[in-house]
Amino acid sequence: MQLFDVYPLQDIHIDHAKGAWVWDTAGRKYLDMYGGHAVISIGHTHPHYVRRLTAQLRKIGFYSNSVKMSIQQELAEKLGQVSGKPDFQLFLCNSGAEANENALKLASFATNRRKVVAFRGAFHGRTSLAVAATDNPKIVAPVNETDQVVFLPFNDVAALESCFAEQGNEIAAVILEGIQGVGGIRVASDGFLQKIRTLCDAHGAVFIADSVQCGYGRSGQFFAHDHAGVQADIYSVAKGMGNGFPVAGILIAPHLRPWHGMLGTTFGGNPLACAAALAVLEVIENENLIENAASLGQWLMDELRSLPRIEEVRGRGLMIGIDLPETLPGLRRDLLFQEGVFTGEAKPNVLRLLPSLALKRREAELFLKKFKRVLHATHNP
Ligand SMILES: Cc1ncc(COP(=O)(O)O)c(C=O)c1O
Repeated sequence: MQLFDVYPLQDIHIDHAKGAWVWDTAGRKYLDMYGGHAVISIGHTHPHYVRRLTAQLRKIGFYSNSVKMSIQQELAEKLGQVSGKPDFQLFLCNSGAEANENALKLASFATNRRKVVAFRGAFHGRTSLAVAATDNPKIVAPVNETDQVVFLPFNDVAALESCFAEQGNEIAAVILEGIQGVGGIRVASDGFLQKIRTLCDAHGAVFIADSVQCGYGRSGQFFAHDHAGVQADIYSVAKGMGNGFPVAGILIAPHLRPWHGMLGTTFGGNPLACAAALAVLEVIENENLIENAASLGQWLMDELRSLPRIEEVRGRGLMIGIDLPETLPGLRRDLLFQEGVFTGEAKPNVLRLLPSLALKRREAELFLKKFKRVLHATHNP
């Protein structure tokens, strides 16, 4: 059988990894400044993570959501404490798209409304409602097309106000990434987030903070939306939550009430996924990784901003976008194949850095050295 060929792949065979480093089957070492799409939060193969997952696997790997699992409650308590949302409720699932799908569905159940406000540049996943709220017609299949999703310009307070003025009583939810990831690392302004909160309150709509990429401490606060001092009604989390183990969830404000059968999943919240998520939170806490993301990220952005030929550096914490001029289209490839550095990209010419939150200062310095070398060589071939 062939693999269904949907991914443009680099010709690299990854074999093993540790911390911020991965090795290919030929023994070449790469600095991982991308964390496999922002997934590696505490570093590859962290010993505490490996120990906790292995111990859980020896006990029990899976049982369904038809019995009580104390490890789910343990995770809910720990996540409430570390995220600063102890009074929220947790629904566990398996991926970012599934988390957003459930968040939107819950908002519609709670308000008995159908309309969703999303923003230009947004990416919320590939399942039906999540993809309908994603601003990329290429990945929206005809069956997912709907006129229930209204797309507004990002960070445009006036457009938001006029949308609510016209159809506020029909809006079930506003869904927004605190920092757009796929959209090119674009930070939502504090004023914009505060306005969403005010308008949702005034019109009875649900504020969904998609924190799949920008959450879990990556921005230097647990949720990127926290920088604005704004509380959402639902936070969706995935990616960094399991450091590679597929686990996701939505954190739900106390005013949104559940009923039996409202949401559900087979795999979500299984004991192995919970063990992975607990290990991640324990390491985030014990190693002060959110503080590290804040300070190291700021240092790295300051250094990057001082370099020539860089058009703009955007982001918060260890979620960094570097706008490259069009004259440097091959820079990311050169970083990978000449300097052994994994990075990400966003259209049209943005280099995305999403390393582990445990990245060390000396690794960030090494990245800068390699980045400068490629920048210089590309300009002076
Ligand atoms: C902001 C955001 N939301 C949702 C998703 C979808 O997550 P998943 O690929 O786990 O379904 C992504 C994935 O990149 C994302 O960046």
